[in-house]
Amino acid sequence: MSTARPGTHIVAITSGKGGVGKSFVAANLAAALVLDGHRVLVMDADLGLANLDIILDLKPTATLHEVLMGSRRLDEVILQAPGGFSVLPAGSGFADYSKLNDDLRRRLRGVFDELGGRYDYLLLDTGAGIADVVLYVASLADEIVVVATPEPTAMADAYAMIKVLAMQQQRSQVHLVINQVRRQGEGLTLTRQLQQVVDRFIDAGTPGGSVRLGFLGEIPHDELVPQAVRSRRLLLESSPGSAVGRSLIDIAGRLARRLFAAAA
Ligand SMILES: Nc1ncnc2c1ncn2[C@@H]1O[C@H](COP(=O)(O)OP(=O)(O)OP(=O)(O)O)[C@@H](O)[C@H]1O
Ligand SMILES: [Mg+2]
Repeated sequence: MSTARPGTHIVAITSGKGGVGKSFVAANLAAALVLDGHRVLVMDADLGLANLDIILDLKPTATLHEVLMGSRRLDEVILQAPGGFSVLPAGSGFADYSKLNDDLRRRLRGVFDELGGRYDYLLLDTGAGIADVVLYVASLADEIVVVATPEPTAMADAYAMIKVLAMQQQRSQVHLVINQVRRQGEGLTLTRQLQQVVDRFIDAGTPGGSVRLGFLGEIPHDELVPQAVRSRRLLLESSPGSAVGRSLIDIAGRLARRLFAAAA
């Protein structure tokens, strides 16, 4: 399904509902993977509505848009983020990306081909929801991480997203991060409940029939997060020892171990 060379894990960070913390998780997960010695690039795959550069206080002069249009080379637009990872910024305000035509899809695959092999991880910070563009970007990934919060609407939208991924892309495994939990253990409980619903209602046509939800961990709700976002700093730099910081490190470790086990 993915186009990268062996050795590069392409991981889409996506969600059903918007604003649940994908970009925050993608940026800090990247920093955590760097701390573990991995080479990481985060691609702002929220094409047309980018904001990863804002979270990371980067000032791109050109973006993926110019690369796709053929006026810049990839190396000219990739930036270095504070956490030691690379960022491929996207542009904002380009309505054309809400529906990707065949030509844009081909060009986007070309970008993935070029990036493959240079990094251990390509993290794709996608937009929210089951729009064509989000699903197409997700289809280029080896692994999917769905971010949800405990809000019933976010869990319902996570279910919808997982269902579409199973039916359209025959995904038999989806990783889950539950962000903004108010009680310790809430993430695992919600994942188990969601797994029951998935088992009951989704038949992906795969040998196992359903989709396995791999719980990567939960992140507490904490004012430190909006503070870090407002000050445009990585939480792993401003508060690495906080509960949120520790949970991000745990999630990165679990993701890396799981992918390593799958590749072995
Ligand atoms: N663990 C948390 N605790 C408290 N607030 C949080 C937490 N995680 C995220 N937030 C808040 O949610 C806001 C939205 O996060 P973020 O931009 O990462 O979401 P997103 O899923 O990428 O949104 P979009 O769908 O618009 O791309 C953050 O700016 C932050 O204020
Ligand atoms: Mg985002």
